[in-house]
Amino acid sequence: MEDRDIHLRKLEHILICNHCEVEYRKDTLFNAVELIHRGVPNCNLEEIDTTTDLFGKKLEAPLIVTGITGGHPKAKEINRNIAEAVEELNLGMGVGSQRAGILDSSVEDTYRVVRDYDIPLVIGNLGAVNFIEDRWNEETIERAIEMIDGDAMAIHFNPLQEAIQPEGDTNFKGVDILKDIISNYKRKYRDIPFIAKEVGEGFSREDAITLREIGFDGIDVAGSGGTSWAMVEYYRIKDREFREFSKRFLDWGIPTAVSLLYVKDVFPGTIIASGGIRSGIDMAKSIALGAHCCGVALPVLRAALRGSREVVKVLERMIRELKT
Ligand code: FNR
Repeated sequence: MEDRDIHLRKLEHILICNHCEVEYRKDTLFNAVELIHRGVPNCNLEEIDTTTDLFGKKLEAPLIVTGITGGHPKAKEINRNIAEAVEELNLGMGVGSQRAGILDSSVEDTYRVVRDYDIPLVIGNLGAVNFIEDRWNEETIERAIEMIDGDAMAIHFNPLQEAIQPEGDTNFKGVDILKDIISNYKRKYRDIPFIAKEVGEGFSREDAITLREIGFDGIDVAGSGGTSWAMVEYYRIKDREFREFSKRFLDWGIPTAVSLLYVKDVFPGTIIASGGIRSGIDMAKSIALGAHCCGVALPVLRAALRGSREVVKVLERMIRELKT
């Protein structure tokens, strides 16, 4: 695919997510989880401490902004606004897939902008499928980490999104090559944590076992109930037949609450709950179900298009709700 096409696709994703209904019609199943009310809390709300340790970094709350964008001038502005807000609140953030920056160094600055901010945890982002299809290796990871001065690397798994894109990369066979690549990276460069991340369809129990065997330090479940990638891609597809095909998968995926339970059962490392996390109550439920931290994307993207103050408002509201 041409570099220009990747940049255009990034912009299309942003515009569609901002203007269209892109969330699952089914929910995360957090609605099925009831937290037990405490009539005798015996604590002072104002003194509740939400600080969290995530991969050895201290965050003000168990909340990160998960990878959204990069590779387009608009993406630079979005990353800057997110970085500014996350610096102020002392939270973590990921950048979007760095493939565009790896293929075309002229757009590296759209990711690099996060280096201008003092953020406790910055997470890089590369696609699992590209390690197979494009034969990426530990040097590719180092380029991505250097680009953002990253503290951790998320490797995203997006098989559904790739399968329903006319131009998608669909060969995920042999994903266990990541085992050597990750251990070589840690030996040759630095011992940063690696996070396996879905993009909104969730991981199953079997997936979590495979990811554990590969040697991932963390899993971001990114389950369904929030942004639906089938929905996002549906709006982009021009071919009528392909559109109909993608339509059947609009609600495909493992609800976030269920994916959390699957993963927690078999994965000993750090678990991040994301996919449809829209309130501090969703966060509290995630933590009750075994998550160490939560992640949010769509509401932050929409806020970031209006400025960093709006991002601060979204994140502060969630933290206040969590405390309550
Ligand atoms: C994403 N997401 C994403 N994830 C990833 O690993 N690499 C990426 O490049 C992107 N790109 C991206 C663009 C846009 C516009 C959105 C909204 C999201 C997925 C994101 O990190 C998250 O996993 C899902 O969106 C589910 O979370 P929400 O949106 O329901 O909070």
